[in-house]
Amino acid sequence: MTPTATAGTRLVHTVDEVRAVVRQVRASGGTVALVPTMGYLHEGHMSLVDRARELADWVAMSIFVNPMQFGPKEDLARYPRDLERDLEMARGRGVDLVFAPEVGEMYPHGEPQVSVVPGALAERMEGAIRPGHFRGVLTVVAKLFGIFHPDVAIFGQKDFQQAALIRRMALDLDQGVRVEVAPIVREPDGLAMSSRNVYLSPEERERARALSRGLERGLALFSAGERDADVLRASLWNALSVPGVEPGYAEVVDPLTLEPVVQAAPGAVLLVAANVGRTRLIDNAVLP
Ligand code: PAF
Repeated sequence: MTPTATAGTRLVHTVDEVRAVVRQVRASGGTVALVPTMGYLHEGHMSLVDRARELADWVAMSIFVNPMQFGPKEDLARYPRDLERDLEMARGRGVDLVFAPEVGEMYPHGEPQVSVVPGALAERMEGAIRPGHFRGVLTVVAKLFGIFHPDVAIFGQKDFQQAALIRRMALDLDQGVRVEVAPIVREPDGLAMSSRNVYLSPEERERARALSRGLERGLALFSAGERDADVLRASLWNALSVPGVEPGYAEVVDPLTLEPVVQAAPGAVLLVAANVGRTRLIDNAVLP
């Protein structure tokens, strides 16, 4: 059953409107999926919508560039935004509702006094490089869960640490939301799709392939029998150590604790981060 499927994609800007529509969906017995995004949509986001459609009757997407998850020196002001284009894409994929609030709607009293403390999963990798980032992510996602009360929410594997933290938050805070993680969608040359790819000049775009190339090499080493995680880390790091790329980290971690592993085993995750010019890129691959 798709309660509002015939109505097309509805655009709303306020929490009250969302609550009213979700009430109607619930009243007609529909289940609710939420795809939280910061907009500037690409095929990676669309794959989350497709997964949402498989899992629930009614699919909502939020588009909100959340200031709370950007550090003072990060790209909040220049983060790409194009609501018209996003709406076209959402319509094309049958999203039932797009929630695109202003900052004042999400944070009417400024930055919230009470926020979500991420804990140990946020201490390393992105959390170490971007202090406060995951507090901002978890707080806005908790707010979105509180606004929509979705049955299921879908996130992309590209942000592996983020997805692990959100899953853990839903569990630890009994939010009653099933957290689904959908696979990374890649460009034909391997680069993981990201809204931030738009920042890359043609030369930088070429250099950015170092991340996925490194992961491919790591996967190949693992397939060839290498189990020493330090050897895999060194191989990832080497792949990032090329002119025009500034490596951030190269890790092999346990998928649940995100702690570095000594021996690589199926299910462990290779994670890389690097700066290409002014653009920060991340990528990962799960060992098969
Ligand atoms: O992954 C993102 O786009 C954002 O971090 C999220 C989950 C929408 C929260 O702002």
